[in-house]
Amino acid sequence: MTKTIEINGSNYEVNFSKSYLNQAEQHLIKSKIDKQNEVEHLTKAQQLIDRARINNIIAKTELQNNNFILKDKPKTRFSDISGLEDVKEKIKLKVIEPLKNPKLFELFNKKFGGGIIMYGPPGCGKSFFAEATAGEAGVTYFNVKASDIKGKYVGETEKNISELFKLAKKNQPCVIFFDEFEALGRERGDAVGHDKSMVSHLLTEIDGLGNKDKQIMLIAATNEPWSIDLALRREGRFGKTIFIPPPDFEGRSGILKNKLNGKPVDPSFDFDLIVRCMENYSGADIMEVCEAAIEKVISRCLKDKKVYLITTNDLLGAIEEKTELITVKWFNKALKIIENDQSSFKELIEYVDNNLKAVAS
Ligand SMILES: Nc1ncnc2c1ncn2[C@@H]1O[C@H](COP(=O)(O)OP(=O)(O)O)[C@@H](O)[C@H]1O
Ligand SMILES: [Mg+2]
Repeated sequence: MTKTIEINGSNYEVNFSKSYLNQAEQHLIKSKIDKQNEVEHLTKAQQLIDRARINNIIAKTELQNNNFILKDKPKTRFSDISGLEDVKEKIKLKVIEPLKNPKLFELFNKKFGGGIIMYGPPGCGKSFFAEATAGEAGVTYFNVKASDIKGKYVGETEKNISELFKLAKKNQPCVIFFDEFEALGRERGDAVGHDKSMVSHLLTEIDGLGNKDKQIMLIAATNEPWSIDLALRREGRFGKTIFIPPPDFEGRSGILKNKLNGKPVDPSFDFDLIVRCMENYSGADIMEVCEAAIEKVISRCLKDKKVYLITTNDLLGAIEEKTELITVKWFNKALKIIENDQSSFKELIEYVDNNLKAVAS
């Protein structure tokens, strides 16, 4: 049984069937009961877990399985995501409510299961959304990157995919999140050799999910939705596509305020101006610009041996140094690629028409 445990603020994903970890668990329990010796117990637990991890790494290279990141009920919530309210509503209805109220959906004979693909420019919160979805629903979360399950040898990837679905069936209710999905679900026509059988195998596993597996939700994310095999995009598989756009004014404002919250910000800081200057920034861009500005303020503090507050100008300086916006580059590339397949990406086209006329032309 794999579990996530927390020691001193770090999460460890561990397999408690191993004896080191059984001992570590005992120490963790004791640390809670025997408060006088809490530190000793925690140290012992930590040592045992370290030993187990080394052991596990060796086991992993031999077996190449069980190497998905599994989190028990992530703490991330929708409230941590700024803006994107309509996306939150869609995901609530499609994923969270069926997990929370299975009986209601059964009553209406509403089919649930099947999955969604989130797509959009990098850094706009797709991965963040997946984790928050599992957090909101209060279920187990499998975070699967293609690199985690792609094996070097023939048949290894297929084995890992089967292992993943087996684990998910045992850990219902759960969300399986396929990050960087294009690396796993690439169109078979474009794929080489055993990447082709990877898609076929994934299809077999998804189609093999039966009535007993209704509490498994599939979410995929990609920056290249056009590369995903069409068979995977069909209803009952990853039938629903959701576009995750760059944050709007409100969204950017929320991300910026969160990021600067609790830091020494000058009272005259002009949030509105900065948010307006960050048009087409992704969430990740906003974080990056803030980090860069804060770093400069800190080094000034160190140099002059006094505390400076973060000012509007500090942020404007960092914005000026950011020359290329990945989101804009992504939209330009996307529009060229989807020229002949506009019906699959209606939300994207609509977004461009409403927000990015200047970019598109
Ligand atoms: N709407 C948002 N609200 C809050 N934070 C965001 C938002 N969008 C992006 N971020 C921040 O940017 C980081 C990168 O986002 P991520 O989910 O990894 O993007 P993607 O998967 O789309 O490439 C997140 O970890 C989060 O800190
Ligand atoms: Mg991501």
